[in-house]
Amino acid sequence: MCGIFGYLNYLVKRDRRFIADILMNGLHRLEYRGYDSSGIAFDGDNIEENNNNKRACIVVRQKGKVEELEHAVKSLENIDWNGEFSIHVGIAHTRWATHGEPSAVNSHPQRSDEQNQFVCVHNGIITNYKDIKQFLINRNYIFESETDTEVVIKLVKYLYDKHKNENIGFQKLIEMACSQLEGAFALLFKSIHYPGQLCATRRGSPMVIGVKCADAFGSNHIPVMFSKDLRGVFSPPLLITDQATTDLTVAGNDRSIEYYFASDASAIIEHTNQVIFMEDDDLAVVNNGTLTIHRAQHEVSGQSTIREIIELKIELQQIMKGNYKYFMQKEIFEQPESVVNTMRGRVNFNTKKVVLGGIKDYINEIRRCRRLILIACGTSYHSAVATRQLLEELSELPVMVELASDFLDRNTPVFRDDVCMFISQSGETADTILALRYCKQRGALILGFTNTVGSSISRESHCGIHINAGPEIGVASTKAYTSQFLALVLFGLVLSEDSISKEARRNDIIDGLQKLPELIKEVLNCDKQIRDFAENLYEKSSLLVMGRGFNFATCLEGALKVKELTYMHSEGILAGELKHGPLAMVDDTMPIVMIIMDDPVKTKCMNAYSQVLARGGQPVLICNDDDEELIKIAPRYITVPRTVDCLQGILCVVPMQLLSFHIAVLRGYDVDCPRNLAKSVTVA
Ligand code: F6R
Repeated sequence: MCGIFGYLNYLVKRDRRFIADILMNGLHRLEYRGYDSSGIAFDGDNIEENNNNKRACIVVRQKGKVEELEHAVKSLENIDWNGEFSIHVGIAHTRWATHGEPSAVNSHPQRSDEQNQFVCVHNGIITNYKDIKQFLINRNYIFESETDTEVVIKLVKYLYDKHKNENIGFQKLIEMACSQLEGAFALLFKSIHYPGQLCATRRGSPMVIGVKCADAFGSNHIPVMFSKDLRGVFSPPLLITDQATTDLTVAGNDRSIEYYFASDASAIIEHTNQVIFMEDDDLAVVNNGTLTIHRAQHEVSGQSTIREIIELKIELQQIMKGNYKYFMQKEIFEQPESVVNTMRGRVNFNTKKVVLGGIKDYINEIRRCRRLILIACGTSYHSAVATRQLLEELSELPVMVELASDFLDRNTPVFRDDVCMFISQSGETADTILALRYCKQRGALILGFTNTVGSSISRESHCGIHINAGPEIGVASTKAYTSQFLALVLFGLVLSEDSISKEARRNDIIDGLQKLPELIKEVLNCDKQIRDFAENLYEKSSLLVMGRGFNFATCLEGALKVKELTYMHSEGILAGELKHGPLAMVDDTMPIVMIIMDDPVKTKCMNAYSQVLARGGQPVLICNDDDEELIKIAPRYITVPRTVDCLQGILCVVPMQLLSFHIAVLRGYDVDCPRNLAKSVTVA
């Protein structure tokens, strides 16, 4: 729900302006994770005359978007922006409130005391914060914020004071504090008592470390050390680096290194593509320019002991807006390419073969399973609803689709011979992760479908498929939906590849997949027409979206886009359910969109259309561009090209994405940052 960012430069001269800009830039990249307030901490002037390293810590926090923080930082008085540091630690945070309303004092960094002796930024939720707070209040600690995070930093200070005479290191101190915490967290710590050091840890919330070695070091000489129970691997090329890798002193005065810590690689990629994804209970500390990763004491069994330094392949331009005004708009228009990326290297259109490398060793086990259970939240859940019918048809297995939160509430029975599929753009959604762990504990085979390399879901799954949609920054999911949909279709095709009786159907679908990018482009050409519809709708207070069959999911997804972006009431309605209740809402004032494709449920959809017309409803239809019979009688319609019935939902959702986008813009809302929402919901 929040974004955290940290920057440390070691023996590379940077002035304060440069450091503040890096921190701000990191926050802008992470703003999609939360944007109700933000803050930074960086070094002030020396506080001890004969100790050049020990410097004051300046904390600036501001309610509102990162822009507001930027103004607040710029207007700081008595700051020497040109002052240079060759070793410096800065941390930053953009917040989406969970405990305590958005305000400066509830923003992070949270601090231990008025001197900012210890400061930290946090993403997650500390569930036992009330007990710790009481413990500290009993020892005369005074709290200034309503956050759960403040207890963490005050606990650190308490432990520091208690062990002052033992001269304990920063890493040990943080380890002691974190061993008292329950809940989910990714945390970055900075302290005036440990100058030039930064501590990071995580449990349940994501954290990635970027490493940039300038000058004498090449990428194979990253000064990373691992504690005894971990092994480091560089990939590519694969170099095993047991224990300490490099003695920094060998590089003499040329040595210089910069570390970036962030909730998500999109904040790091413009600086370096060498990254390490931290695992739960890893504790990373940078001291004297060397990054050391330790395991916290309580081991999680079955967790990997290998930490890879990965070369990320995302380009900066992939996370910039380009010619578009909004990320969401860019992402809608990227879909002709993102669907190609999902299929790239997987579908051979000549031989009609589909290969999914991530699951190929498990195919036989999957085919023999008791049932497929698809588990997800929000838009990702809709991709499961959208493909359920096809998966049933192609696999001939029972297919359940489940909302992760409800699945957990019901303590749903799960068996060893179940295959549980977790679909998540971010790979970090707390409910989905909890459901994954629940199923894993019961022995089911776990498949992850995510868009985020190195995310918790992709790491905790036995096998899986990266949907490869590219970074999705807009809070409302668009291209990830179509790529999830597609990845699930590919999965169904692979499951059925042995079935001769399904060969014709499979070939049809694969032909449909080949044409899909061009067909999406055709739908995108209707942008202007859809904007005109939006002009008629944007002042209304409600919008119903009706359909059935393969397009029921499109109605759910379309209505979700309308709700989250325009704040209008909107409902996705199964046309078959109309007369069981929703028809009562229909009259000549109720805005309605109906999806009627020329497919096996068309006759039933036409019945629903007649019922709506009979109550005075005036729906806008989404229909096939060659369905002349329907176009002739429909007063208002948007057309999409025809494709195979099971893929039609990929084309039909695009007008709904555009419609919700235009209504939101016309209403004057911030499309990329809808109110009360965050991109990655890392709290259950
Ligand atoms: C809506 C939206 C959300 C997410 C949901 C799950 O536009 O984006 O409904 O789909 O929060 O997120 P992921 O897919 O990251 O697990």
